[in-house]
Amino acid sequence: KKTILSGSTVTGDLTLGNYIGAINNWTKLQDDYDCLYFLANLHALTVFQDPKVLEDRTFSFFAQYLALGLDPKKNIIFVQSHVHEHTELSWILACLTPMGYLNRMTQFKDKSEKHPKNINSGLYTYPVLMAADILLYQADLVPVGEDQRQHLELTRDIVGFWQNRYGEGVFKMPEAYVGKMGARVMSLQEPDKKMSKSDENDKNFISIIDDFKKIEKKIKGAATDSGTEIKYDPENKAGLSNLMTIYSVLSGKTTDQLEKEYEGKMYGHLKVDLADLVVSTLRPVREKYDDLMKNKDYLDQLMKEGADRAAVRAQKTLENVYKNVGILYRR
Ligand code: TYM
Repeated sequence: KKTILSGSTVTGDLTLGNYIGAINNWTKLQDDYDCLYFLANLHALTVFQDPKVLEDRTFSFFAQYLALGLDPKKNIIFVQSHVHEHTELSWILACLTPMGYLNRMTQFKDKSEKHPKNINSGLYTYPVLMAADILLYQADLVPVGEDQRQHLELTRDIVGFWQNRYGEGVFKMPEAYVGKMGARVMSLQEPDKKMSKSDENDKNFISIIDDFKKIEKKIKGAATDSGTEIKYDPENKAGLSNLMTIYSVLSGKTTDQLEKEYEGKMYGHLKVDLADLVVSTLRPVREKYDDLMKNKDYLDQLMKEGADRAAVRAQKTLENVYKNVGILYRR
């Protein structure tokens, strides 16, 4: 069985972009693969987080994973900080990664341009920690949205640097798995940029646990062009095409089918139907989430089980890595 690993950073709330671009694919893979899904709470610290909020949010994200359909029996679901091997391996990999490679990371460039007062070295080495997340578990495939592709390429480069120095056999070469549709869900008000959970404008994204009235408002108020024809054309009709992408993934209909279905109708019709579809998709998720959040002890127990299972595998890799680089492993 191939091994799959992926995660999301514990900031804001999971969005429809995270669901459509990533988690929806995770749930489809869980029956046929050996899957590990985690919460990157250490990555969250690259931007200041209120400690209490970060703590609560970790539970909330865990509950959202389960509510979105990830089964703790079929997958290893865990919290990054619970398996300390992530940070340990990250150091070893940092010592192999040239700064020139990190300088090229577009996410780092974007984030440091946006927050010039917060260019800490954690933000800079973020992709190295991400490589450690992946390589610890010998992952074959990493299901992510388009925005993480470059980080995956870097992970592959790092495996190359390792092999040049220490030889093959310690790490598996991972591959990105990016869906054909919905790998880049766009912002609702500014459809030329991606939907992001850390966006300051809350009209730009739909979070999985948004209030339903708010979801309807956000979709109906989404920016579209001044045309009238319902046509999938991301270049000229970015806003509309984004809505059609969401519609397509959630309904299983192709954009061609949607074009036919909405021939002669107005943008408003599509928006009303899409709002219904999103709400009916998220309603059961919301119910399950609310239930789970009432039982923190249960979540705690699942987190612990997940961490125990993940740690066994992480330890094995780290011990092997230490042996190969000449670092004594504690007996
Ligand atoms: P994060 O938390 O930003 O996003 C989680 C997943 O959702 C995808 N995604 C999107 N897909 C489509 N459209 C969007 N608008 C959109 N926004 C986000 C992301 O591509 C991602 O797959 N660094 C990672 C978390 C991470 C990780 C890892 C992932 C840490 N270590 C190891 C894979 C493997 C991140 O911040 O994702």
